[in-house]
Amino acid sequence: MYSLDVKASSGSYPIYIKNGLLGEIGSEVKKIYKGRKIAVVTDSNVNKFYGQKVINALNAEGFETFKIVVKAGEESKSFETLLQVYDKLLDFKINRGDIIIALGGGVVGDMAGFVASTFLRGIPLIQIPTTLLAQVDSSVGGKVAVDLPRGKNLVGSFYNPKAVFIDPLLLGTLSEKFVSDGMGEVIKYGVIKDSELFYKLMNYENSEAALKGIDEIIYTCCTIKADIVERDEHDTGERMLLNFGHTIGHAVEQFFNFTGYSHGESVGIGMYTITKIGEELGITKIGTANIIKNILIKYNLPWTLPEIKTEAIIEAISHDKKNIGDSMNFILIESIGNSFIGEIHEDKIVEYLQNNQK
Ligand code: GLY
Repeated sequence: MYSLDVKASSGSYPIYIKNGLLGEIGSEVKKIYKGRKIAVVTDSNVNKFYGQKVINALNAEGFETFKIVVKAGEESKSFETLLQVYDKLLDFKINRGDIIIALGGGVVGDMAGFVASTFLRGIPLIQIPTTLLAQVDSSVGGKVAVDLPRGKNLVGSFYNPKAVFIDPLLLGTLSEKFVSDGMGEVIKYGVIKDSELFYKLMNYENSEAALKGIDEIIYTCCTIKADIVERDEHDTGERMLLNFGHTIGHAVEQFFNFTGYSHGESVGIGMYTITKIGEELGITKIGTANIIKNILIKYNLPWTLPEIKTEAIIEAISHDKKNIGDSMNFILIESIGNSFIGEIHEDKIVEYLQNNQK
């Protein structure tokens, strides 16, 4: 078993990573939770594969469990779903001494985490992430949120879990598209902070081969994220490095109404694009964008910018960032493993977009 502690302002919490951990979840939860009632929040997809398994494992340890199943998909990060979940928690008479387990991907983790942070002014939370994206990113660092009709993650808070339990074997039921989605974030960690991770990923023959060693890869990613989050829990400085590739990526995601490109795919396009711009500006070592392009191809991720109106992309970018005059803040890299927060003039972005769309 791999394990690490995240030192947060609210106290440390552990992350455990082990193949088959879900089978031991009852006894693992027993070690850290001395109460009786547990509400397991999950979605309709995850429930089919793992819902009952988790409930049975918890019941076997004598817990009294309740399962709340929301519809799978981003639309469940809504106020409507929140009301339904709060209502169920009231039905089950969950109180402040009880615990919520978020069993699912990023949507469930963010939404159930927000529920835990707000219901009765906060009740303890355990995260059991079931997608690669959630295992390496959203379950770690305490960001919880729901969407508003005008944008994603607009209402949320920082709320750390009591523990994160990661079972990499759960990735076996993910489709290839979901694995690539998470790989976008895994590659990002290598690019911003860890050239050793990057070249290790590069040396795998393909995504399938990388999955064989995914427990160690997840551990490395969680360690990088934990280090950053410990230094900047509330996202005012270094934590922003985690947004490498996300500004342009987010514009792509938004332009296609979050249905054309997955998050990881959009981040792939964003990482390549900003690196290429960095090269043209003399900020990034020449050849780095090509190295990123090659790894994206290896992990079945796109790198070319789709055709999007330049104005639309600039509009999305300027909403996304705190900007100074006509300069925009971006996460940039000098070379693989070395990132920093810098500024780029809007004209340079416009010029690049106009010359480089599919
Ligand atoms: N996913 C970026 C962050 O946690 O800050």
